[in-house]
Amino acid sequence: MREDFLLLNPGPVPVTREVREAMGERMVSHRSAEFEAVYERAQDQLDYVFTRSTLDESSTATGGTSLILNGTASMGMEAAVANTVDADGEVVAVVNGKFGRRFKRIAERYASVTPVEFDWGDPVDVDAVEAAVTDDTDVVTIVHNETSTGLLNPVPEVGEIADAHDATYVVDGVTSIGGDVFKVDDWNVDIAVTDSQKALAAPPGVSALFVTGDAEAAIDGDRAPFYEDLDWHLRKAESHQTPFTSAVPLFRGLAVAVEDIREEGMAARIERHREQATAFREAFHAMGLDSFPDRNEESEYSNTVTAIALPESIRGDDSTAFFDAVEDRGVSISGGQAHLGGEIFRVSNMGHLSSEQVIRGIRTVGEAFEEVGVDADTEAALETARDVLR
Ligand SMILES: Cc1ncc(COP(=O)(O)O)c(C=O)c1O
Repeated sequence: MREDFLLLNPGPVPVTREVREAMGERMVSHRSAEFEAVYERAQDQLDYVFTRSTLDESSTATGGTSLILNGTASMGMEAAVANTVDADGEVVAVVNGKFGRRFKRIAERYASVTPVEFDWGDPVDVDAVEAAVTDDTDVVTIVHNETSTGLLNPVPEVGEIADAHDATYVVDGVTSIGGDVFKVDDWNVDIAVTDSQKALAAPPGVSALFVTGDAEAAIDGDRAPFYEDLDWHLRKAESHQTPFTSAVPLFRGLAVAVEDIREEGMAARIERHREQATAFREAFHAMGLDSFPDRNEESEYSNTVTAIALPESIRGDDSTAFFDAVEDRGVSISGGQAHLGGEIFRVSNMGHLSSEQVIRGIRTVGEAFEEVGVDADTEAALETARDVLR
């Protein structure tokens, strides 16, 4: 792999040398005091990330516990749902992309599900959610930042609906938490889920959950799969332990990554992510391309993942040459997932990206378009991005 390889996929994102070094340290037992200290450091900083992701870092939660689970975000999503519904329980799942659909599919294993579905990339119509949630609804699931389409969903508005019906509100903040504003109590979130390898910029393999006091009351670990019994995880977490053998190197890497976030400060980090996403988006628009997702009053373009419609002349199988041309330049970006393959491309600005790397990503995409015969104004794009980036 080239020395200057640039990973712009929406996760896993690049990790720092310090994170890599932490993972390579001498092994310790997951029952040792050393491990407890690692988990405690990670929990402290995760508490900060989960509850102070605002532009003034004011606290957004009155209480709650940060947990780390072996297994990626899908494990965290499943744990959140499986602990809060019975087989005769009712879940309303909001779906407008691949990860909303994943939440729905997970919930279908544990309860009866009413999906509120929109085409991938279309905004959520809050009135449709309102019509679906009733006093019989036990859980409402939603994805905050829909990675598959680059759309920021109306978590606050849907949270009001969940709250009005006393439903547990389970939010996937996988590509927003650590990179964008996230408010626990204001948005009525009961359980928030994120992944290590996205905006937290840690290695893949573990997920992090924030479980509020209200959610704790709704949790019944006996009905969840044994490995995902959140009652048990919460009990053990009080002494910075986990029920099972933890992925020690991954916990270590995560602890360092979240300490880096604390050092940067969430306010500065959110501003940086917003600026870089704006630079990507406006640069691609200046190239003559269009954003993929549609917005309504309650939705916004993502501040961490930019999804752009491919020019018509290279859609479908013809897009392969474009992605190859990007890769030949030592940059990795993503295409669309499932039926969006060949329709869009996606770049991430999660983690520690520098302005120079954003510029390189834009230049590379522009050069790749030119190579496959798309008339893209790369110079206009670069000028636009430089104007946005400080
Ligand atoms: C929004 C969102 N939710 C959930 C997931 C699932 O994560 P994993 O495949 O790591 O379990 C992803 C992964 O990209 C995601 O972007």
